[in-house]
Amino acid sequence: MNQIQVEGGRPLNGDLVVQGAKNSVLPILAATILSGGVCQIQHCPALRDVDSAIRILQYLGCRAHREGDELTVDTAGLSRCDIPEDMMREMRSSVIFLGAILARLGRAEMSYPGGCELGPRPIDFHLAALRTLGTDIDESTGVLRCSAAELRGGEILLSLPSVGATENTMLAACGAEGTTVIHNAAREPEIVDLQNFLQKMGASVHGAGSSTVVIQGKRPLHGCCHRVIADRIAAATYLCAGAAAGGEICLRQVDYRHLSTVTTALSQAGCRVRSTSEEITLQSDGHLRGITPVRTSPYPGFPTDAQALLMAALLKSQGTTVFVENIFESRYRHVAELQRMGADIRIEGRVAVVCGVSSLHGAMVQASDLRGGAALVVAGLQTGGTTLVGHIQHIQRGYSDFVENLARLGAHITATNT
Ligand code: EPU
Repeated sequence: MNQIQVEGGRPLNGDLVVQGAKNSVLPILAATILSGGVCQIQHCPALRDVDSAIRILQYLGCRAHREGDELTVDTAGLSRCDIPEDMMREMRSSVIFLGAILARLGRAEMSYPGGCELGPRPIDFHLAALRTLGTDIDESTGVLRCSAAELRGGEILLSLPSVGATENTMLAACGAEGTTVIHNAAREPEIVDLQNFLQKMGASVHGAGSSTVVIQGKRPLHGCCHRVIADRIAAATYLCAGAAAGGEICLRQVDYRHLSTVTTALSQAGCRVRSTSEEITLQSDGHLRGITPVRTSPYPGFPTDAQALLMAALLKSQGTTVFVENIFESRYRHVAELQRMGADIRIEGRVAVVCGVSSLHGAMVQASDLRGGAALVVAGLQTGGTTLVGHIQHIQRGYSDFVENLARLGAHITATNT
């Protein structure tokens, strides 16, 4: 299947269990390397990016076996420290294997990672932190050749609270002698999930969720069993879909605290949102209004990953909404496609201004990245016709059963072949 066909104009009703978080499970899969034993990862979503991570583990000599939503990984047999370029290019998270392999073997060799095209995505913070921990990194051949006779703890100050650099440093620091302190660490729930996983393996890691994470390295680690948290961006996607299409949906097994900026925005737009500790219910009549400016920022601010989705939900809103994308330089590639469907959006630099229109029409559009692709589907739910979304491999990287879930809620949507 390589395209998604959506017929707009259907409300969404019903409930859904939200998938495990992509951005939790990927660093956790890298972290299994530290255990040198068997880890059971529950609530593991079936995603292309997870398949890519499994391929990397297998290449390195580890074993992985999936049964339903449980993935068992045995990293006892890890025998290589290099990752081939084609595997590195498949996703951004491949770079998190660097900290884990270094901690376990003291050397690693890989190229720069791939991932969604959102503007420049350097890894200078990752490399600076690993150098502080005593890693020698040779970048002269376009490949990262890293070695550390002995990693030692250190003080790391991140100039931005980078999610990936925080994760990579946490993993390398588990293999470093002494104490590592990460200042200005990212505070995302996925960092807390990684800390919980590391603690279950026997690591001493504290402070995740705050700006300072402290790791005491060189503890003996072992396998463990862990359930991955719910995917707050997948949850945001279904909430935006429900808000735009109208109806009443209930998302189960999701932590509402992780979504407060998104649910606040949707409430302001006119939706009725009720949350209990593990559920969010959203009611919408499909007639939304423009809201106060949405500025993306690191957690606990409004997530950049939900920017395109909320924008798609507000295309037919009454009034105007301003978006300011502060995390990535080029994260408006969905806008040109939304304009093909009749959206009125103007972009200037990091700012996008959405003026609600009375109707949208179906069109042939193309996903250019994961969240932008899902946003095209959210837009398609509101048109008076048929939308064909191409290049859906981007969407499959991060959503499991996306089409099936929306169909179950009542959308007229199918995955088809051209
Ligand atoms: N940055 C640097 N140098 C670095 C690292 C980051 O300049 O060494 C900059 C980036 O260019 C960006 C900012 O710092 O402007 C934040 O990047 P961050 O490192 O936090 O992002 P990431 O780790 O590459 C993760 C998620 C993204 C999500 C961002 C921000 C994973 C696998 N990816 O990326 O998720 O947008 O954090 O929250 O966790 C997605 O799921 O669709 C996705 C893109």
